[in-house]
Amino acid sequence: MSTQDHRKPLRARASAPLKGSIRPPGDKSISHRALMLGALAIGETTVEGLLEGEDVLATAEAMRAFGATVIRDDGGVWHVKGLGVGGLLEPDKVIDYGNAGTGVRLAMGLAGSHSFATTFTGDASLVGRPMGRIFEPLRRMGVQILARSGDRLPATIEGPEVPVPIEYRVPVASAQVKSAVLLAALNFSGTTTVIEPIPTRDHTERMLAAFGAAIETTVADDGVRTIAIDGGADLQAQKIVVPGDPSSAAFPIVAAAIVEGSDVTVENALLNPTRIGLIDTLVEMGADITIDNRRSVGGEEVGDVRVRGSRMKGVAVPPERAPSMIDEYPILSVAAAFAEGETRMEGIGELRVKESDRIAMMVAGLKANGVDVDEGPESIVVRGSARPAGGATVATSLDHRIAMSFLILGLGAANPVTIDDESPIATSFPAFRDMMTGLGARFESVDGD
Ligand code: S3P
Repeated sequence: MSTQDHRKPLRARASAPLKGSIRPPGDKSISHRALMLGALAIGETTVEGLLEGEDVLATAEAMRAFGATVIRDDGGVWHVKGLGVGGLLEPDKVIDYGNAGTGVRLAMGLAGSHSFATTFTGDASLVGRPMGRIFEPLRRMGVQILARSGDRLPATIEGPEVPVPIEYRVPVASAQVKSAVLLAALNFSGTTTVIEPIPTRDHTERMLAAFGAAIETTVADDGVRTIAIDGGADLQAQKIVVPGDPSSAAFPIVAAAIVEGSDVTVENALLNPTRIGLIDTLVEMGADITIDNRRSVGGEEVGDVRVRGSRMKGVAVPPERAPSMIDEYPILSVAAAFAEGETRMEGIGELRVKESDRIAMMVAGLKANGVDVDEGPESIVVRGSARPAGGATVATSLDHRIAMSFLILGLGAANPVTIDDESPIATSFPAFRDMMTGLGARFESVDGD
């Protein structure tokens, strides 16, 4: 059966003001890393607030395939009994990572430091995404990789008997590449150095330090970060509390900003400086956002983000801000569709290799819904209006963030907006529909063809 047979269209209609408070699901980046480091630690790591979306469940399953014990108790706390650094076992099956780019790329780093063969694959979206960016540093470390043409999945990774620590300058701003190298390096004797010209999310570094890895980051005057990690140190099990995902919080935040009269509080959102580019940008656009109750949860800053509906104006988003909001450009394009004037988003070529080509998908979907938008190789330019027309059905191409973005467009547009499939939303935000409906969003299922 083709995937088309399972598609579930969903329609969003103009809503009355959105009101209330919600807690977004656990951060996806931190959830993947918590399970992986738990699998490498000595003792039992507990994880509270883990994102129970399909992407992270794929990591739980992968860690089991590598021999770790991963269970969820009745209270929703996850328990991971680790195998120690270098202690992973050869999986006896192909590891199918579904839609999860972060999961598979980090797990390939882990597998690359073990001298057995592991085969990885994924869904129709993941097998089309570039993996050469991970294979390149792994090959330099002596890892053998056999992959499909264009360095795509499925791929088999076999770590060397004697790995070689490397100094690696990350060629694209990618936390996944940085993290894969750092995770591989844990099991190498000697110092591996990662040089990061443009800072990206730093959850791997923070969590490795908390688990007791010998890791140190220095920041040069020009902002270039050098991360040195000594292999061989034991990791000690931790109690992890996962803060709310700012990339999921982005959807109710923008929904409240564009639906007139709304007043929504998104509680417990992660405010790590490498993740808050969207909030900074919305504030520059004139959105009415306040952050209360700032506190520290599990070594990360969190807070409650209150958003009230307001008229926004277009801005030029500085390209250097891209890594701190890389997953938020689809929903920012929706905010821009409601802003007065032009919003320029430049330096975002990486969007073309996400779960879908997000530049092409957003531009096509916005145009179909009457929004004035232009596309460049690495840019999107939106000219907004008080009330975009809406009225069209858009394709989601196995991309959760495209699906959620167009549903939010429908909450403020003059006519309903329909997405061809709501199923991908379960990868990162399974409670999206219920939570948004609880705030007053009007969603309705549509019979398929
Ligand atoms: C992530 C890094 C980003 C982001 C992804 C999660 C991570 O990808 O898009 O959703 O957890 O490290 P890149 O590293 O490819 O930019």
